[in-house]
Amino acid sequence: MLRKIASTLIIFFLIPQWVYAESAAKELQSLYATQGADAYSAKTGGSKWKREVASKNGDNRSCSTCHTADLRQSGKHIKTKKVIQPMAFSVNKDRYTKTKKIEKWLKRNCKWTWGRECTAQEKGDFLEYLLAQ
Ligand code: HEC
Repeated sequence: MLRKIASTLIIFFLIPQWVYAESAAKELQSLYATQGADAYSAKTGGSKWKREVASKNGDNRSCSTCHTADLRQSGKHIKTKKVIQPMAFSVNKDRYTKTKKIEKWLKRNCKWTWGRECTAQEKGDFLEYLLAQ
Protein backbone atom coordinates (compact mmCIF):
# COMPACT_ATOMS: atom_id res chain seq x y z
CA MET A 1 0.00 0.00 0.00
CA LEU A 2 2.67 2.47 1.06
CA ARG A 3 4.75 1.48 -1.94
CA LYS A 4 1.81 2.14 -4.21
CA ILE A 5 1.24 5.58 -2.74
CA ALA A 6 4.93 6.35 -2.98
CA SER A 7 5.18 5.34 -6.62
CA THR A 8 2.03 7.26 -7.49
CA LEU A 9 3.54 10.32 -5.85
CA ILE A 10 6.81 9.86 -7.69
CA ILE A 11 4.99 9.61 -11.01
CA PHE A 12 2.87 12.60 -10.12
CA PHE A 13 5.85 14.84 -9.39
CA LEU A 14 8.38 13.57 -11.89
CA ILE A 15 6.41 13.20 -15.11
CA PRO A 16 5.12 16.78 -15.49
CA GLN A 17 8.58 18.17 -14.77
CA TRP A 18 10.10 15.87 -17.35
CA VAL A 19 7.59 16.78 -19.99
CA TYR A 20 8.06 20.45 -19.22
CA ALA A 21 11.85 20.21 -19.42
CA GLU A 22 11.74 18.46 -22.75
CA SER A 23 9.34 21.04 -24.05
CA ALA A 24 11.64 23.99 -23.23
CA ALA A 25 14.40 22.45 -25.33
CA LYS A 26 11.95 21.36 -28.05
CA GLU A 27 10.46 24.84 -28.13
CA LEU A 28 13.90 26.27 -28.85
CA GLN A 29 14.57 23.64 -31.50
CA SER A 30 11.36 24.71 -33.27
CA LEU A 31 12.51 28.31 -33.05
CA TYR A 32 15.91 27.40 -34.54
CA ALA A 33 14.10 25.66 -37.41
CA THR A 34 12.54 29.00 -38.31
CA GLN A 35 16.08 30.43 -38.31
CA GLY A 36 17.35 28.00 -40.92
CA ALA A 37 18.19 24.85 -38.96
CA ASP A 38 17.50 21.47 -40.55
CA ALA A 39 16.94 18.07 -38.84
CA TYR A 40 18.95 17.76 -35.62
CA SER A 41 21.57 15.12 -34.97
CA ALA A 42 22.66 13.94 -31.51
CA LYS A 43 25.76 12.43 -33.12
CA THR A 44 26.82 15.76 -34.62
CA GLY A 45 26.05 17.50 -31.33
CA GLY A 46 28.25 14.98 -29.52
CA SER A 47 31.25 15.42 -31.76
CA LYS A 48 30.92 19.20 -31.57
CA TRP A 49 30.73 18.92 -27.79
CA LYS A 50 34.23 17.42 -27.75
CA ARG A 51 35.71 19.52 -30.55
CA GLU A 52 38.72 21.47 -29.31
CA VAL A 53 39.20 25.01 -30.53
CA ALA A 54 42.34 27.05 -29.91
CA SER A 55 41.57 30.29 -28.09
CA LYS A 56 43.37 33.62 -28.44
CA ASN A 57 45.02 32.88 -25.10
CA GLY A 58 46.68 29.79 -26.54
CA ASP A 59 44.67 27.18 -24.62
CA ASN A 60 42.40 24.58 -26.25
CA ARG A 61 38.74 24.80 -25.34
CA SER A 62 35.73 22.56 -25.74
CA CYS A 63 32.36 22.17 -24.03
CA SER A 64 34.00 19.36 -22.05
CA THR A 65 36.49 21.80 -20.55
CA CYS A 66 33.92 22.70 -17.89
CA HIS A 67 31.18 20.10 -18.31
CA THR A 68 33.53 17.08 -18.83
CA ALA A 69 33.06 14.49 -21.59
CA ASP A 70 31.01 12.22 -19.31
CA LEU A 71 27.81 14.20 -18.94
CA ARG A 72 26.53 12.01 -16.13
CA GLN A 73 29.30 13.38 -13.91
CA SER A 74 29.55 16.81 -12.31
CA GLY A 75 31.78 19.26 -14.09
CA LYS A 76 33.96 22.04 -12.80
CA HIS A 77 34.26 25.58 -14.06
CA ILE A 78 37.80 25.94 -15.37
CA LYS A 79 38.18 29.48 -14.00
CA THR A 80 36.00 29.78 -10.91
CA LYS A 81 36.47 26.09 -9.95
CA LYS A 82 32.79 25.96 -9.04
CA VAL A 83 31.08 22.59 -9.37
CA ILE A 84 28.66 22.34 -12.29
CA GLN A 85 25.86 19.80 -11.90
CA PRO A 86 25.68 16.97 -14.49
CA MET A 87 24.38 17.97 -17.92
CA ALA A 88 22.85 14.59 -18.80
CA PHE A 89 19.08 14.93 -18.79
CA SER A 90 18.73 11.32 -17.60
CA VAL A 91 20.46 12.05 -14.28
CA ASN A 92 19.55 15.71 -13.85
CA LYS A 93 15.93 16.56 -14.55
CA ASP A 94 16.48 20.17 -13.52
CA ARG A 95 18.24 20.65 -16.81
CA TYR A 96 16.74 22.41 -19.84
CA THR A 97 13.61 23.59 -18.07
CA LYS A 98 13.82 27.26 -19.06
CA THR A 99 14.25 28.57 -22.58
CA LYS A 100 15.82 31.79 -21.27
CA LYS A 101 18.44 29.91 -19.27
CA ILE A 102 19.32 27.63 -22.18
CA GLU A 103 19.67 30.56 -24.56
CA LYS A 104 21.70 32.63 -22.11
CA TRP A 105 24.24 29.90 -21.49
CA LEU A 106 24.48 28.70 -25.08
CA LYS A 107 25.31 32.23 -26.11
CA ARG A 108 27.87 32.76 -23.37
CA ASN A 109 29.48 29.32 -23.64
CA CYS A 110 29.73 29.31 -27.43
CA LYS A 111 31.46 32.69 -27.28
CA TRP A 112 33.90 31.55 -24.60
CA THR A 113 34.59 28.12 -26.09
CA TRP A 114 34.56 28.80 -29.83
CA GLY A 115 35.13 32.55 -29.87
CA ARG A 116 31.80 33.13 -31.63
CA GLU A 117 28.09 32.54 -31.18
CA CYS A 118 26.74 29.17 -32.29
CA THR A 119 24.43 28.90 -35.28
CA ALA A 120 20.81 27.77 -34.94
CA GLN A 121 21.84 24.36 -36.33
CA GLU A 122 24.67 23.94 -33.83
CA LYS A 123 22.46 24.89 -30.89
CA GLY A 124 19.76 22.48 -32.02
CA ASP A 125 22.30 19.66 -32.40
CA PHE A 126 23.71 20.35 -28.94
CA LEU A 127 20.24 20.12 -27.39
CA GLU A 128 19.47 16.92 -29.31
CA TYR A 129 22.68 15.41 -27.91
CA LEU A 130 22.19 16.68 -24.35
CA LEU A 131 18.60 15.43 -24.11
CA ALA A 132 19.67 11.98 -25.27
CA GLN A 133 22.32 11.56 -22.54
C1 HEC B 1 33.92 28.07 -18.91
C2 HEC B 1 33.07 26.94 -18.48
C3 HEC B 1 32.02 26.40 -19.45
C4 HEC B 1 32.23 25.94 -20.73
C5 HEC B 1 33.54 25.79 -21.48
C6 HEC B 1 30.92 25.57 -21.25
N1 HEC B 1 29.97 25.78 -20.30
FE1 HEC B 1 27.98 25.38 -20.46
N2 HEC B 1 27.64 26.15 -18.61
C7 HEC B 1 28.61 26.62 -17.75
C8 HEC B 1 27.99 27.15 -16.54
C9 HEC B 1 28.72 27.77 -15.34
C10 HEC B 1 26.59 26.96 -16.70
C11 HEC B 1 25.48 27.39 -15.75
C12 HEC B 1 25.46 26.61 -14.49
C13 HEC B 1 24.62 25.39 -14.58
O1 HEC B 1 23.64 25.35 -15.34
O2 HEC B 1 24.92 24.45 -13.84
C14 HEC B 1 26.42 26.34 -18.02
C15 HEC B 1 25.18 25.99 -18.55
C16 HEC B 1 24.98 25.47 -19.81
C17 HEC B 1 23.68 25.20 -20.38
C18 HEC B 1 22.33 25.44 -19.72
C19 HEC B 1 21.75 24.15 -19.19
C20 HEC B 1 20.38 24.29 -18.59
O3 HEC B 1 20.13 23.65 -17.56
O4 HEC B 1 19.53 25.00 -19.14
C21 HEC B 1 23.90 24.71 -21.64
C22 HEC B 1 22.85 24.28 -22.66
C23 HEC B 1 25.33 24.67 -21.84
N3 HEC B 1 25.96 25.13 -20.71
C24 HEC B 1 25.94 24.22 -22.99
C25 HEC B 1 27.30 24.36 -23.26
C26 HEC B 1 27.89 24.10 -24.57
C27 HEC B 1 27.15 23.65 -25.80
C28 HEC B 1 29.23 24.36 -24.44
C29 HEC B 1 30.29 24.32 -25.53
C30 HEC B 1 30.05 25.17 -26.70
C31 HEC B 1 29.46 24.76 -23.05
N4 HEC B 1 28.28 24.76 -22.37
C32 HEC B 1 30.70 25.11 -22.54
C33 HEC B 1 29.97 26.63 -17.98
C34 HEC B 1 30.60 26.29 -19.17
